[in-house]
Parts: sequence; C-alpha cells; structure tokens
Amino acid sequence: MEKSLLLAIYITSSSIALLAAKIFISLLLYKRWRRKQRVYEDGLSGGKMVMFRSPAMQSLTSNSFMKKILKLSNKDIIGSGGYGTVYKLMINDSMAFAVKRLNKGSSERERGFERELVAMGDIKHRNIVTLHGYYTDPRDNYLIYEFMPNGSLDVVLHGRSTNKTILDWPTRYKIAVGAARGISYLHDDCIPHIIHRDIKSSNILLDQNMNARVSDFGLATLMTADETHVSTFVAGTFGYLAPEYFDTLKATTKGDVYSFGVVLLELLTGKKPTDETFVEEGTKLVTWVKSVVKEKREEYVLDRRLEDCPVDEINSAFAIALMCLELEPAKRPTMAEVVKMLEQIKSENIV
Ligand SMILES: Nc1ncnc2c1ncn2[C@@H]1O[C@H](COP(=O)(O)OP(=O)(O)O)[C@@H](O)[C@H]1O
Ligand SMILES: [Mg+2]
Repeated sequence: MEKSLLLAIYITSSSIALLAAKIFISLLLYKRWRRKQRVYEDGLSGGKMVMFRSPAMQSLTSNSFMKKILKLSNKDIIGSGGYGTVYKLMINDSMAFAVKRLNKGSSERERGFERELVAMGDIKHRNIVTLHGYYTDPRDNYLIYEFMPNGSLDVVLHGRSTNKTILDWPTRYKIAVGAARGISYLHDDCIPHIIHRDIKSSNILLDQNMNARVSDFGLATLMTADETHVSTFVAGTFGYLAPEYFDTLKATTKGDVYSFGVVLLELLTGKKPTDETFVEEGTKLVTWVKSVVKEKREEYVLDRRLEDCPVDEINSAFAIALMCLELEPAKRPTMAEVVKMLEQIKSENIV
C-alpha cells in the first residue's frame, strides 16, 4: 500500500516538474521570439536605410535589403572586432555583402556619423573596400560593405581559419603594394584627406584575386566623435600604433605610415605584432626586427615559408619597412613615397 502511494506521489511530482519545465522553456522561447519580432518591427518603423548609387546596388530595393539586415542572426556572423560584429548577407544566392553592426552613441554623434558616411560613399578605389550604404535604427547602426571572399590578411597569414593558403612572396608583395596604394589614396587624393588611424592586417581584406583592399577607413574617427571618450580612448590597435601617438593622442598620416611598416614586417616575418611572446619578453616585433636587420641578419627573422625567395627583393622590403618605422615621424616617408619604393623593388629586378 505504502509502496504504491510513494510511486503515485513520485509519478505525480515528476509529471508536474516536467510540465513546469515545458512551460518555462516555452515561455523563454516565446520571449525570444517576441524580442526578435519587436526588433524587426522597430526597425521597419523607425529605421533609415541609405544605399549609395552603384551598378551593384541598382537592382536592389532598399526595403528588401532592410528586411534582410533585420533578419541577420548569429549563424551569419563572420567576424567581430573592436567596433562591432560583422555578418555575411546573401542576396539571391549570388550577391554577397558584409554588414557591420555597431552600437549607437549619442544623437549628436549620430549626425556626425551619417555625414561622414555619406562622404565615404564617394570613395572609389580598387584598393579600398567599397561602402555600399548604411542602415540606422533606434538600436544600432549598420554599415554595408562589399564582401571580400578571401577574408582578412590577418586570418590568411596567421591561419586561424580553414583557409590555410600559404601566401607566397609574389602574393605578399602584391598585397603590400595594393595596401600602400589604398592608404596613399586616402592621404593624398581624397578631399578632405583621410587618416585611417587603424591600419593593421585585419583591416586589409583580400578580394577574389588576392588584391588588397583597405577597410574601416574613417571608422576610428567616427568612433571617437563621442566627447566622453576623447581623453581616455586610444583609437587604433596596440602593436601597430606609432610611439609618438601615446604622448600626443593625435592622429597623423605619419602614424598610418608607421602602422603600415608594422604590416610590412608582418608580411615578411609571418609574426603577429600582438603576439604574446613579444609582450612577455617586453620587446615588440618592431624592436626585435630592427636589432636583427641592423646586424644584416634578415634571414634570421624572415618567415620560414619565404626562404627560397629573391633575397634582393626581401631585403629591400625590410629596408622600406624600417624607414616607415623610424621613431621620428618626420624621417618616415609619405605613403606616396612608400608606393614608389615598393614598385621599384620589382622594376629593378626586371631591368
Ligand atoms: N567586407 C568584408 N568582407 C569579408 N570579411 C570581412 C569584411 N569586413 C570584415 N570582415 C571580417 O570580419 C572581421 C572583423 O572585422 P572588424 O569588426 O572590422 O574587426 P577587426 O578589423 O578588428 O578584426 C575581420 O577580421 C574580417 O575577417
Ligand atoms: Mg576591421
């Protein structure tokens, strides 16, 4: 008798627990669904979509694009960084875009944000990632870029992903020249001139032919427009920042030249400037390479994967990198000069 009573109590209580768990899970799922639904509705009512005119965007309506943006979810994420999360957005299975989601700042900052973005929409260069438009709603800002199928130099070079392509010297050289041309264009040919402020390998993206495309230009400036951050926020990335920047907190073209020098060293040594081993030893990639190159032992720091490459070309590239990395900003070349010197490396050999 007692046994069956215990059994009945056991069955009843477990059924109640199961039911409660089911209700709880359904509630959670419902809440999540409502939240998504709300984001979608808010976006449709209070959002603003701006698409810059270009052949790629001509066939698309902003409404359908906006709906796709609001449907982006975690499974579409392709990367995340200092400024936000990047998603891949497919249209008709044939067209791909990279959409970067940024958190919102103050309304003052918003106006600056939109003004700057419209200015950036005018920039077209084969070594700069095209910005196709933006979308802004009460919660977030989204930047719509062209999608770069080979990802960022950082991932290809340091191979975190499945993309284990070994970059040979001609490809690395092509990337260096392309990136230099892109930055030089921002410095010299854009009006007003643009200082990138965050040149690093993860901001150098690679198109289907492994051509370099500079991305996130102007983003560092946009993100520091918030007054409350001016004194404390160091725009840029440690390991790439010019030494004088820590004293002045002033962005200059020569600061970009320094950061480009670091990227060039990264291409030559295959080492990450932010590598923990450098941090542990208290030395930076730059100081390490400088000391070795001074002793004319470039081969000691050269990426092993490049050992059979033309020594002259490699040594010239090291020399250009070190010029970019001069401690005195005035002694560094301009980006236009860097482009010329890099181009000479090949032409000298052809002659
Ligand atoms: N236009 C793009 N096409 C393809 N991948 C991109 C694009 N933009 C960004 N990514 C990927 O998303 C990652 C995160 O980008 P981002 O938010 O700019 O952070 P970070 O530059 O600090 O890595 C990049 O490293 C890159 O791999
Ligand atoms: Mg970036």
